[in-house]
Amino acid sequence: MKRPKIVNVVGARPQFIKASPVTRAVRAKFDGVLVHTGQHYDADMSDVFFEEMEIPRPDFSLGVGSKSHAAQTGEIMERLEEVLLREKPALVIVYGDTNSTLAGALTAAKLNVPLAHVEAGLRSFDMSMPEEVNRVVTDRVSTLLFAPTRTAVKNLGTEGMRQGVHLVGDVMVDALMDHADKAERASTLMDQLGLVPRQFVVATVHRAANTDDPENLSRIVDIICSSPVQVVFSIHPRTREALKLNGLEVSLSLARQVLLAPPLGYLDMLQLEKNARAVLTDSGGMQKEAYILGTPCITLRNETEWVETVEDGWNLLVGTDVSRALDALGHFWPTSARTNRFGTGDASGRIVTVLEGFLRAG
Ligand code: UD1
Ligand code: UDP
Repeated sequence: MKRPKIVNVVGARPQFIKASPVTRAVRAKFDGVLVHTGQHYDADMSDVFFEEMEIPRPDFSLGVGSKSHAAQTGEIMERLEEVLLREKPALVIVYGDTNSTLAGALTAAKLNVPLAHVEAGLRSFDMSMPEEVNRVVTDRVSTLLFAPTRTAVKNLGTEGMRQGVHLVGDVMVDALMDHADKAERASTLMDQLGLVPRQFVVATVHRAANTDDPENLSRIVDIICSSPVQVVFSIHPRTREALKLNGLEVSLSLARQVLLAPPLGYLDMLQLEKNARAVLTDSGGMQKEAYILGTPCITLRNETEWVETVEDGWNLLVGTDVSRALDALGHFWPTSARTNRFGTGDASGRIVTVLEGFLRAG
């Protein structure tokens, strides 16, 4: 019997990671097709994840690249529409909250193709954040809403979305559990950089509110340069450009306890997060990974979608307040219990079970 066709749309770093366990589970039961929009294209922002996580090469590469929000979203829509018209899938899956997510969602919705959103229901309640616009719109046009947490289910309910909502857990837990042993075996970065467990901080920054606001960016550089602990700073391409534009590279390169690194592969990043004294970040995924790995997280934002990490005492929101961040780097040592509020690593399996029921029902 012919298996139903499911098109997965990915384009940015966290989506390769989220799609890794989901596409594997989908391909076991359906005819899985993978579309890469090309939103992220540098080898260390894209290829490395396909290689390390053994994700099959994309069936379609749209090659859209970096553009303004409207141009990027619009071009993905135009090119993806051609793919969907040709492939005629039974369902489209989108992940997270990027412009690739929004473009995938709108294209499927306008062609009346059923749409599943993995990581539905997250909210920062800040509509000036591009990701919040992408999430709200994507959820609204989705047929199946796969929520990672109870909070996400509650958020959807508040907005009147109850039908098609499934609490499945977080697929990033699946990805982490699938790769933790491999990271332990394969990553040599700790040795290469001479890092001592619990005596360094791993830092990343890429939110528009931090990179595109020179004052926020300069305060973050202050935090990193004045850290009482050694910092490994993995620099996102957006941040690299913003640091250059604002003349902030010099102070970073002169700070003796700062190690500057390009974007890291997933296995190296997991090893650093696991062994770090703390994670200093504005990344959504890294707040959760820190929690799951039992590493304190200091978040360079004033709010988070992952409120559970804060409620359980493992994540401190410091915004770009230099003194609060430095105090946290010196003294934040959570000891409270962690729970499996993000699931137990079976989210992808649960998603596929729901998809089977949905597609069988026709
Ligand atoms: C995007 C997502 C964000 C997600 C992040 C994950 C949107 C609106 N934002 O942010 O939600 O958290 O990815 O990392 O979708 N660039 C390169 N090489 C690349 C990719 C980007 O040099 O491979 C540079 C370009 O100058 C580009 C800039 O980074 O303009 C920003 O890239 P973009 O994909 O627009 O947004 P991100 O900040 O990566
Ligand atoms: N990540 C990585 N290398 C890096 C920075 C992040 O592999 O240098 C991984 C990280 O472990 C997590 C994901 O990328 O799994 C988070 O992606 P990102 O921070 O780009 O986006 P966000 O989660 O904020 O949307």
